[in-house]
Amino acid sequence: MPTELTQNRIQKIWVPSNEDVPAVPPRAAYGGPHLANPPTVIVMVGLPARGKTYISRKLTRYLNWIGLPTKVFNVGEYRREAVIYSSYDFFKADNKDAVRIRHQCALAALHDVKTYLTEEGGHIAVFDATNTTRDRRDLILNFGNENGFKIFFIESVCDDPNVIATNIMVVKISCPDYQGCNTSDAVEDFQKRIECYRALYQPLDPEHDRNLSFIKVIDVGCRFVVNRVQDHIQSRIVYYLMNIHVQPRSIYLCRHGESEDNLQGRLGGDSGLSAQGRKFAVALTHFVEEQNLSEVKVWSSQLRRSIQTAEALGLPYEQWKALNEIDAGVCEEMTYEEIKEKYPEEFALRDQDKFHYRYPRGESYQDLVQRVEPVIMELERQENVLVICHQAVMRCLLAYFLDKSAEELPYLKCPLHTVLKLTPVAYGCKVESIFLNVDGVNTQRDKPEVICMPAIVSCLPSHRLVLYCL
Ligand code: SIN
Repeated sequence: MPTELTQNRIQKIWVPSNEDVPAVPPRAAYGGPHLANPPTVIVMVGLPARGKTYISRKLTRYLNWIGLPTKVFNVGEYRREAVIYSSYDFFKADNKDAVRIRHQCALAALHDVKTYLTEEGGHIAVFDATNTTRDRRDLILNFGNENGFKIFFIESVCDDPNVIATNIMVVKISCPDYQGCNTSDAVEDFQKRIECYRALYQPLDPEHDRNLSFIKVIDVGCRFVVNRVQDHIQSRIVYYLMNIHVQPRSIYLCRHGESEDNLQGRLGGDSGLSAQGRKFAVALTHFVEEQNLSEVKVWSSQLRRSIQTAEALGLPYEQWKALNEIDAGVCEEMTYEEIKEKYPEEFALRDQDKFHYRYPRGESYQDLVQRVEPVIMELERQENVLVICHQAVMRCLLAYFLDKSAEELPYLKCPLHTVLKLTPVAYGCKVESIFLNVDGVNTQRDKPEVICMPAIVSCLPSHRLVLYCL
């Protein structure tokens, strides 16, 4: 006898009617499919100043964004909690007290990894440390075996002195170890620290380590060695690492110019630009010229208002269907007032959980994140890009670059006629918001303080999620 199913009203997915199945699985951040079962520990390997922390944080941001709760555990931070740093002497192999402290710090971090993956809903932990010896890696492999965690190593190998010097200058001398220290002393100490590690370094070896799962990233992504990828998550990690680069560039995000539908407060649709929208398209052309970029790619959606905006630039551009605005299903081309009137329950459900809420016969923000993932991957490959898209789509892209949670994402402010310029810096992204001085309507609707549910909801299956104001 097939089980009775009830449609969950937020996500419009079918759930067994008699079971107390939560609308949103507790482990999902952006709510992607549950792919990392059992949990995975990503283990960084490499000498200091090889970009391990950069990779750890960037990869973690990506994994969280695609819906896999992920957290970085940086052993250097545990060490700073345990002792006050004075010099590279601490990292000498014959400094027995320090060796013991460093071992304890690694164990404390692993303990927290275990708590995160077994009690706190984490799917993936990134163990950000040098892990340069086979002994240390064996310790981690045993930890993985004992707890049933998959282990995937990412080793960054680079001997280019310019890359290492830049890394030391950009992130290392400003780290808490060197607070109050002058630059040349800090650089000298850090280089001696690297030599301490080099003396004992045992890189991952395709022969000796042939049974391990790993990727070796050589010379900042010029070459890769990939071994024994175990599952979908690991292959996605490999694919991601093969696409990212560290060339300086900026990504410009904006919405199309104001549309005729915007003027009437209508969602979605495919109307053309309003008079103000056309002015914005001209202002955007001047803005791009003023940026004085040797090269810039322009991407639009396949909707009329976005194409009209891109056309005005007089530059070649590429159309992406993946950049089309969220599909509001039965609510397409309606105003918020009309939706509230015709579909009061849907209106309230969206306010309740805007990220997961799926319009009847349409999409949710959660769907949109999956849809724009190939755009993010291609953005990672490119240098300067101007993306002319739509409010909901821009929020999804912005959430990736700014590491915003699923709760924050649907409320990110992306006003019309404003360009957000994103420039990668150290471990994050600098954002400049540039209003192009063309007035447009305000389409932002903030989260209401009180969510009003119509009375009918109280007798329906997912009533326990609902706030009432009858
Ligand atoms: C550190 O203490 O800064 C790094 C610890 C390690 O070697 O992994």
